[in-house]
Amino acid sequence: MTGDFNIKRVAIIGAGYSGLQTLADLIHTSSNGESTINTGKLPSEPAFPYIKVFEQSPDLGGAWRYTAETDPHFPSKESLEDEYWEPSILENEKLKDGKTHNWKHNAMYDNLYTNISYNFMTPSTLPIKKYPNRIFDPFLTHREVLKILHDLADHHDLRKYIQFNSDIKNVLKTEEGKYQLTIERTNTNGEITIEIETFDSLVIATGRFKYPHIPQIHNLAEFNAQNPGVISHSKSFRKSEDFKDKKVLIVGSSVSSIGLLEYLRPIAKELHLSRRTFINDPESSVYSWYVKEFNSGKIVQHDQIVDFDLATNEVIFKNLERAGGFDHIFLATGYHIHFPFLPKDNDNLAKISKSSGDQRGRIENLFHYVFSIGEPTIAHVGFTSSGFFVHLSEAQGVSIAGVWSNAKKLPSLEAQRQWHADRIAQKAKSRTTHQYEPEEAVAEIEYLTGELGVKNRGPKITSRLNTALFEREKERLGVIYEKFASGEFDESYILKTDTSGLPLPTLN
Ligand SMILES: Cc1cc2nc3c(=O)[nH]c(=O)nc-3n(C[C@H](O)[C@H](O)[C@H](O)COP(=O)(O)OP(=O)(O)OC[C@H]3O[C@@H](n4cnc5c(N)ncnc54)[C@H](O)[C@@H]3O)c2cc1C
Ligand SMILES: NC(=O)c1ccc[n+]([C@@H]2O[C@H](COP(=O)([O-])OP(=O)(O)OC[C@H]3O[C@@H](n4cnc5c(N)ncnc54)[C@H](OP(=O)(O)O)[C@@H]3O)[C@@H](O)[C@H]2O)c1
Repeated sequence: MTGDFNIKRVAIIGAGYSGLQTLADLIHTSSNGESTINTGKLPSEPAFPYIKVFEQSPDLGGAWRYTAETDPHFPSKESLEDEYWEPSILENEKLKDGKTHNWKHNAMYDNLYTNISYNFMTPSTLPIKKYPNRIFDPFLTHREVLKILHDLADHHDLRKYIQFNSDIKNVLKTEEGKYQLTIERTNTNGEITIEIETFDSLVIATGRFKYPHIPQIHNLAEFNAQNPGVISHSKSFRKSEDFKDKKVLIVGSSVSSIGLLEYLRPIAKELHLSRRTFINDPESSVYSWYVKEFNSGKIVQHDQIVDFDLATNEVIFKNLERAGGFDHIFLATGYHIHFPFLPKDNDNLAKISKSSGDQRGRIENLFHYVFSIGEPTIAHVGFTSSGFFVHLSEAQGVSIAGVWSNAKKLPSLEAQRQWHADRIAQKAKSRTTHQYEPEEAVAEIEYLTGELGVKNRGPKITSRLNTALFEREKERLGVIYEKFASGEFDESYILKTDTSGLPLPTLN
């Protein structure tokens, strides 16, 4: 034993991939720092005898739990009058009807298929189920991903640890150095009760796609008030038929934007794109299809939006070009990373720096994006972004099990801070420091499972990581995108061939 933690009571916030995978590892960690997860048995002497997961939704699955209902299409004008790039404005937004809204619905849309295959979306403790012979093979429907998470919960018998409809509102550090959680529970009648419970340590696995990022554009709120329903964030897109024969503008050039372009291209009357940069390499085979669409004029490309002309209802772009008559404008402008329940005055905790220019908000003060530097009893899972996200988040959970069970020891505070400084320096030219390319993700997973992880866990995860296969699948993704965008593939095929066996989502 190398470390000196005495952690018995663990709280995990969130029951998506990150929370569930971490739970599976923590319950299988023995007090001697070994994992029993490969045996299928719980340890006779568990390192963490009391673990609770708090999930604000009525079921597990996180981002993959499709909600037919959406968040309000746009924040209220009152919210936007303030600093609306600041996510706390959205936290508990007061709506016109006097209710408070807290952005709980998910971004999954009806016919979404994954951009990562079953090979890399299946946790290492489950066998990989393949679905060949489909036009979008090797990718999955959103319900098949949710089924993977249900299978994970069944396989490790996780549900009994999870408290649903339990929203963590506040975390207070006690004088004894423990964490007092304020839990807001909603019962089946919609009644709310507040409970308090104290834990030795806390895993934050609350996801990155909850608070929509609304760009700060002159007259945006006024344009929205003048044209109600025209603007929405990509989070509230559900089905493309709603935009048949419409003139649509999409803002942003990342994955959500590509999904919208792909499905709206065959049916919209006119499709426009406003982009600030090319986040993805336009020369790569995955994205070359939409460059062809620009070149042929089928998708009209514009500069970044800088203003709205309220007299003519036109959009004004950076190069002073104007365009108007849009039936709909989608802000596919990403999300805020935000931890509203964490105390604001504790300098040891994760902080998110403001975006500036091309640089996206940066996650500060987390060693390997997991352990709070100076307060390692608060750990995060799932804030890195990667094609190998599932295994990276699994490895993060393994590292928490290793460090908190004292099987492994964190390096000195100085070394942790140095890691962070080096990471920022190394990624100076990237928009995000928490993005891991496949090769980098493999090295990171090896570090987390090897240097920090509970024993007997790394090889099973790393054996799933095949970067050559990942690259081949990326090429295939480019071909599939092009076929849906050209109308050769019909998007209704996707849900029709879903094999999850889960009830069909209620379509609006
Ligand atoms: C539209 C869309 C498509 C995507 N497609 C892909 C893809 O193809 N492949 C891929 O690998 N990834 C994809 N992703 C990324 C996806 O988010 C990850 O796959 C994964 O779901 C992240 O898991 P997580 O557990 O970290 O977060 P989440 O899945 O977001 O889970 C976080 C959980 O925490 C809960 N929570 C949050 N705050 C609180 C609180 N205060 N109290 C209690 N509970 C709380 C939430 O309700 C949620 O259940 C996509 C994301 C989006 C939005
Ligand atoms: N089928 C799928 O699997 C699927 C579908 C949809 C989404 N997703 C997932 O959902 C997650 C979120 O993706 P996302 O595309 O919503 O968010 P994102 O990757 O954060 O991208 C946000 C986009 O908004 C742009 N933007 C931000 N502020 C702007 C401004 N002021 N003006 C103009 N543009 C601005 C950014 O431009 P810059 O590049 O210049 O910063 C970027 O292009 C990802 O993990 C993705 O994989 C997956």
